[in-house]
Amino acid sequence: MYWKERCIDFNSNVSLLLDRLQKSEGSVLYIIDDESRLKGTVTDGDLRRFLIANPSCDVLKETAGRVMNESFVYENVGEVFKREFDEYRKYKEIPLCDFGGRLIDVISIEKDDFIPIAAPSLGRLEKQYLNECFDSDFISSNSSMVASFERSFLNTVNAEYGTSVSNGTVALELIIRSLDLKPGSCIGVPNYTFAASINAIINCGFVPLILDCREDLLLDESMVPWSRLDALIYVSIYGNAFNIELVRDLAKENNVFLIGDHAEGLGCMVNEEHIGNYCDAASYSFFANKLITTGEGGFITFNRKDLLDKALVIKNHGMNPKVKYDHIEVGGNYRMTGLQASIGLAQLERYSEFLTKRQVIGNNYFMAISAFKHDVRPMSQTINHVGSFWLYPLIVEESKLSSLENILSESRIEIRRIFQPLCDMPIYTPFIEAGTVYRRFHGVVLPTHPGLTMGHVTKIINIINKWVKQLQ
Ligand SMILES: Cc1ncc(COP(=O)(O)O)c(C=O)c1O
Repeated sequence: MYWKERCIDFNSNVSLLLDRLQKSEGSVLYIIDDESRLKGTVTDGDLRRFLIANPSCDVLKETAGRVMNESFVYENVGEVFKREFDEYRKYKEIPLCDFGGRLIDVISIEKDDFIPIAAPSLGRLEKQYLNECFDSDFISSNSSMVASFERSFLNTVNAEYGTSVSNGTVALELIIRSLDLKPGSCIGVPNYTFAASINAIINCGFVPLILDCREDLLLDESMVPWSRLDALIYVSIYGNAFNIELVRDLAKENNVFLIGDHAEGLGCMVNEEHIGNYCDAASYSFFANKLITTGEGGFITFNRKDLLDKALVIKNHGMNPKVKYDHIEVGGNYRMTGLQASIGLAQLERYSEFLTKRQVIGNNYFMAISAFKHDVRPMSQTINHVGSFWLYPLIVEESKLSSLENILSESRIEIRRIFQPLCDMPIYTPFIEAGTVYRRFHGVVLPTHPGLTMGHVTKIINIINKWVKQLQ
């Protein structure tokens, strides 16, 4: 039984506890107050101990608050795990609380042999909304699920103008096509990104310019030849956007249209604002390895209504929104289906759950791996920046990379190398800037997906620790 269904109000009667314990086949129940603060836990054993200690009580008249175990083990979101993993082994799962004591999530303890690099988390709610869409017969983009998903997504990222699309690559293409750029316009793109960012520019008939990146793999704002650009794609690679404020200010100063490719950055906040809102337009991907998924899917947001209006026409075959079959642009079909949107709607309801878990895992990697010092460098953390931890990159010296890859894969931990820089792939070399010496970085990315257990995270950290010791 999903942990939220195992949360019971402090004042509830013991008969409710018995019912939930029965339905959850003995899993732990979480006893919370009316502000969701975790007050205690109840298992079959706690009920038994209560009865032994209070033999003359009328147990069915007792409340959850009376029988609960108040000295339960928990962890705080935002802190490194407090104990050695062996100490957690006697539990099936550990509750995660915020600093106000509110129950935010639970992390399970069981460990699987193989740890995949990514895995979607699909559950009961996704199935329910998908069935509703299926039963309605409206499975295309005409489904009301699409409008509901769009409202919910805009609300989530605090944006006013936006629309869903069929994937994150066409999201970028649709943004670029909506800008009315002159033929031959130049669009900057960082050297470290997934190929979709540069492919979108080329597929729209414009000229990409590959720009150098910093050690955190983000675009180096000091190396941007602003006067040559008509637009710039900023990529929140691996869910980070440390310099997005700076880039936003420079783009504004230089009158360059800023497109945020936030396929990997959904959930990243800078100064408590969603990173999409630092850009003139932003694109997102809902591929199965992303923070939320719709299988394939994407979204675009704009800071101007006229640009959204233009995109909506292009998205729907260039059709006049007021006159059916009157085509006023050479458009395409970029629409999301109701089936995709219904999964997305359920995933958005679980957005905070996904984000919290990735952040807990990412922070644990950061705290543990920062201690290993020189051989492996995690991303820095700054006070005003909360990453989405899409994956967790570690920068490693090139000569040490294969030994780290080997030890992780021997332990059945799936990892990837960080993206190959665009400038090293022959199909993109026509777009490098003559005279620029592009910096190269090497490293691996670690999994952060919400299916990871505490056992997985501590296993990964211990193996990296062992590798660091072997090097010394
Ligand atoms: C940075 C970046 N941009 C764009 C995309 C393309 O998204 P999609 O796979 O939904 O087309 C991805 C996909 O992983 C990505 O990582």
